[in-house]
Amino acid sequence: PLVTTAELVDEARAGRHGVAAFNVITLEHAEAIAAGAERAGRPAVLQLSENAVRYHGGRPAPLAAALAALAQESGARLSLHLDHVEDGALLRRAADVGASSVMVDASRMPYDANVAATADAVAWGHEHGLFLEAELGEIGGKDGAHAPGVRTDPDDAAAFVTATGVDALAVAVGSSHAMVDRTAALDLDLVAALAARLPVPLVLHGSSGVPDATLAAAVAAGVTKVNIGTILNVAFTGAVREALHDEGLTDPRRYLAPARDAVAGTVAHLLGVVAG
Ligand code: G3H
Ligand code: ZN
Repeated sequence: PLVTTAELVDEARAGRHGVAAFNVITLEHAEAIAAGAERAGRPAVLQLSENAVRYHGGRPAPLAAALAALAQESGARLSLHLDHVEDGALLRRAADVGASSVMVDASRMPYDANVAATADAVAWGHEHGLFLEAELGEIGGKDGAHAPGVRTDPDDAAAFVTATGVDALAVAVGSSHAMVDRTAALDLDLVAALAARLPVPLVLHGSSGVPDATLAAAVAAGVTKVNIGTILNVAFTGAVREALHDEGLTDPRRYLAPARDAVAGTVAHLLGVVAG
């Protein structure tokens, strides 16, 4: 069934386990995430990034509608989330395309502008029943929140949460986006300090680059929502590449089906890792 992200995040936080949020690019990704979640007997968040919406011609509704319908018919509890949203127009479409949560990404703005933009988005989102995630890297940092070396300070994060009213905070603790090898080291003491200091659940971005044992340790230390994208694409594209060795192949189902199976396997495995 289609559930809300707030429900999944609250339940995970109360149970001290993680809820994985997987990035969707194609319908096959979403089918794979649903299959993996059913196999693992775990819920998951389907997340559609602003980038992925741009790939689909800037129109969020067609794919989002398919994802919502897929969730409704799934044996797993799945929610729909809009990820890394910088465009206010996309934020304002969230509820009508079936998303229950949005990550507003103002992390590239100067701190005061990030606070103001995030607070505005949160106020609007709460009026429309949405769960809002935002991110804070390093105040004054110019690299975005999820570049190597950037760290979120607990006192700054607490002030940011108070000033913006966000429901969940993405923090910089050592991961970075789009790593294709799993070699990231996390600052688990910082995760624990942030979890102790903040009244809202923590989100880890760039989780593809984090080894399984470290991901499990991050959840134990206090990470609740675990965002995973790239590692699914490594599985997807690897399977496509393998299938395309057959040069007589023309039916896309013959390379998309193995890609979908590969992603489902990765999803089921990672859901076990973050289960806590
Ligand atoms: O918001 C999405 C995630 O942070 C995914 O990052 O592609 O490096 O796993 P990743
Ligand atoms: Zn991210």
